[in-house]
Amino acid sequence: MARNRELVSEKRNYLVLTVAQAKEIVDNWLVEIDLANVTKLGLPEVDDRYHLWRVPLCAENGSKLGEVVIDAYTTEILPAKTTKPEILTARLLKQDETKIVEARKEKPQYKLSTLRNTIGLGDSVELLQDMPAESVDLIFTSPPYFNARPEYSEFEEYEQYLFKMRQVIKRSHRVLNEGRFFVINIAPVLLRRASRSESSRRIAVPFDLHRIFIEEGYDFIDDIIWLKPEGAGWATGRGRRFAADRNPLQYKAVPVTEYVLVYRKQTDLLIDWHIRHHPDRELVAASRVVDGYEKTNVWKINPATGSKHPAAFPKELAEKVITYYSFKGDVVLDPFAGSGTVGAAASELGRRFVLFDSNPVYVELIREAVVTWENVNFSAMMWINCKPVSPPSIPILNSLNTSKIDLADTLDAQIELTEGES
Ligand SMILES: C[S@@+](CC[C@H](N)C(=O)[O-])C[C@H]1O[C@@H](n2cnc3c(N)ncnc32)[C@H](O)[C@@H]1O
Repeated sequence: MARNRELVSEKRNYLVLTVAQAKEIVDNWLVEIDLANVTKLGLPEVDDRYHLWRVPLCAENGSKLGEVVIDAYTTEILPAKTTKPEILTARLLKQDETKIVEARKEKPQYKLSTLRNTIGLGDSVELLQDMPAESVDLIFTSPPYFNARPEYSEFEEYEQYLFKMRQVIKRSHRVLNEGRFFVINIAPVLLRRASRSESSRRIAVPFDLHRIFIEEGYDFIDDIIWLKPEGAGWATGRGRRFAADRNPLQYKAVPVTEYVLVYRKQTDLLIDWHIRHHPDRELVAASRVVDGYEKTNVWKINPATGSKHPAAFPKELAEKVITYYSFKGDVVLDPFAGSGTVGAAASELGRRFVLFDSNPVYVELIREAVVTWENVNFSAMMWINCKPVSPPSIPILNSLNTSKIDLADTLDAQIELTEGES
């Protein structure tokens, strides 16, 4: 009989549409972890609040062992939300699973990244995929604000935009070291009305991104307000009509703030652990924050002026975030780097940088600027899909299909080449 009711998963445009598809994904996973012959699947259920499929796992006798959680948009199995294979095994063998939980907690190692300063042209969803896991110590970025600026907006639908952001946030989670911070500068956007008979629409992007961060395995830490001078918001045109007419209901606040939202990759490690276990005590001491730091969550900073990028944020903002959320020597990633403000601040503060942007015009801005930055060892820099600025002998990784580049391999290759040349 023909089905005329649209499934929830169809309405949401999920990649995993049916119970059969969810089961197939889990079956393949069970083969990979060698538990295919000893487990049975319960009935998969879609959880459209969080865009997940939940698939119960049972033993042959029907007793519940755990569940597998699938990202309905991407088909990925979410390790943080899925019962761990070793726990499943312990339950099947009726072993004491608390020992396994304890063993997992044993002696975490402090991971020092070997990444070098990197500039990459390409879609950060692709470039992130090729980075080694847990190779970045801080992410600070300001993503495209949906269709706020037509120069770089590529999304027809808001859902499409959120999906892209989810991919970046998810892949960033893999490359970020455990317990380290992802700081994002974001604000609501105003979609201008197409005609006089329509109203303009304001979209609360930060709140939708917040939900994605939580779903993708980050803890919420802080909502910092970047406060600009009063004159800064009038360019948006908001509040002008009310200022003239003063009719109630027409009131619109002139926006002079943006959010700087702080998330931490979920972990059982206390922040203290990172400070105590850092192997270079001198770097820890040199990274101490000096007097005059921001004591509240309201940071008064003037917007950037004079940048060739239409949406650059001020270097002062990047300096504060980098100083407060990383040690000297750490690797700071900006997956939406624009003119490279994060790179300029990071190098000045003795941190390494990894900068990605998909627009060749903006990567060109970074290439022009990088020669003026401090502490940059050009002979050991990494360039992806763009020409090195100096020295000219550094090899160029010129691939149109960036997903084929393995950043870890190319790093090693580049170390060898650079060392061979000197
Ligand atoms: C708000 S701007 C960042 C400005 C930057 N903070 C600065 O100070 O110059 C966002 C940037 O994201 C880039 N972008 C948009 N989608 C991208 C993607 N999928 N991958 C990499 N970069 C992207 C745009 O080209 C734009 O330069």
